[in-house]
Amino acid sequence: MKILVTGGAGYIGSHTCVELLNNGFEVVVYDNLSNSKEEALTRVKKITGKDLIFVKGDVLDVKALDKLFNEHKFDCVINFAGLKAVGESVKKPLEYYHNNITGAINLLEVMKKYECYNFIFSSSATVYGDPEVVPVDENSKIGGTTNPYGTTKLFIEQILKDLHYAEPKFNIAILRYFNPIGAHPTGLIGEDPNGIPNNLAPYITQVMIGKREKLTIFGNDYETPDGTCIRDYIHVCDLAYGHVCALRKLLENPGLVIYNLGTGTGSSVFDVLHAFEKAYGKEIPYVIGNRRAGDIAVNFTKVDKALNEINFKAKYDINDMARDQWNWQAKNQNGYEN
Ligand code: NAD
Ligand code: UFG
Repeated sequence: MKILVTGGAGYIGSHTCVELLNNGFEVVVYDNLSNSKEEALTRVKKITGKDLIFVKGDVLDVKALDKLFNEHKFDCVINFAGLKAVGESVKKPLEYYHNNITGAINLLEVMKKYECYNFIFSSSATVYGDPEVVPVDENSKIGGTTNPYGTTKLFIEQILKDLHYAEPKFNIAILRYFNPIGAHPTGLIGEDPNGIPNNLAPYITQVMIGKREKLTIFGNDYETPDGTCIRDYIHVCDLAYGHVCALRKLLENPGLVIYNLGTGTGSSVFDVLHAFEKAYGKEIPYVIGNRRAGDIAVNFTKVDKALNEINFKAKYDINDMARDQWNWQAKNQNGYEN
């Protein structure tokens, strides 16, 4: 069974390629390398001992997509290709709407033309905005996104619902990821952010290797037990395996399905920091700063639906995530540039 993985050289995509190959799927990666390196795929092959096909290309390039589908018969498309920096999306909204939304539409159009009707979409917990009740579940209210990046996810979800209504032949899995962190336990692949990391875990590991002086915790006056924000961190390998579970579900022709992928456990910024300190064996310097605009106090998910319908259950905890992300960072101080 042949799977097209767009954005497959990126952080979540590369880990998903490992799971797909290890579960017997053939993989073709299509990525413009705007936020990734081909080296990640070389390492995916090293981890799995299996081959994959890499095609450098852009989901905005309709002709190249047509050529790709003409050359391969795909059973499913997993679409990771997209821009994801929240702050940058506020400054460059058109770029974000164009890349993420037009890219998704281009893919769906070429799939329709070549009669490939299985699609998995990387959505995000961000579609729940600032939830009234936590833990959220898949029926919780969506909307109220606070930045263009989040709104691209919301709009694409709506496009997929409209498409499925009009063309019930499409099987679509919308996966709402909570906070993926960690890295493959081999330390061969992991997150390799450009410039100053926006996200908590890569920022912490850059402090650990001395690349940054200290962590700034964005606010300790939230209404949470220790005053810092709470999120549902999920190991990227668990998240990656979730795509295999969703893919198996699509092969049963379920129509459109939505799953939250998280662990069901909320961890504060201090919980995450302490997990990294445990992996490091030392204290990690930090200061308390102002709240970051757009941050919400608490978000974590119920896990029942994913467990009951696709048999997905995260197996790693926050200490495993910290250990594996530290292992990756320690072995690859400059990411894939080494
Ligand atoms: P990433 O940036 O590491 O991976 C995205 C990949 O898509 C990169 O390899 C990039 O080069 C490629 N890409 C971007 N635009 C492209 C285009 N026009 N054509 C072809 N390739 C293109 O990001 P990630 O963390 O692996 O995220 C993957 C997906 O999951 C994204 O859609 C992201 O929005 C979504 N997501 C991520 C998180 C997170 O916290 N990492 C949370 C929720 C959802
Ligand atoms: N944080 C700090 N200091 C930092 C970075 C982050 O204190 O230097 C705090 C944030 O304030 C927040 C928590 O750490 O409380 C997590 O922040 P991240 O930026 O790592 O993650 P977010 O929950 O803000 O957002 C991430 C992705 C989004 C995605 C969302 C849900 O960046 O794209 O998870 O999946 F939508």
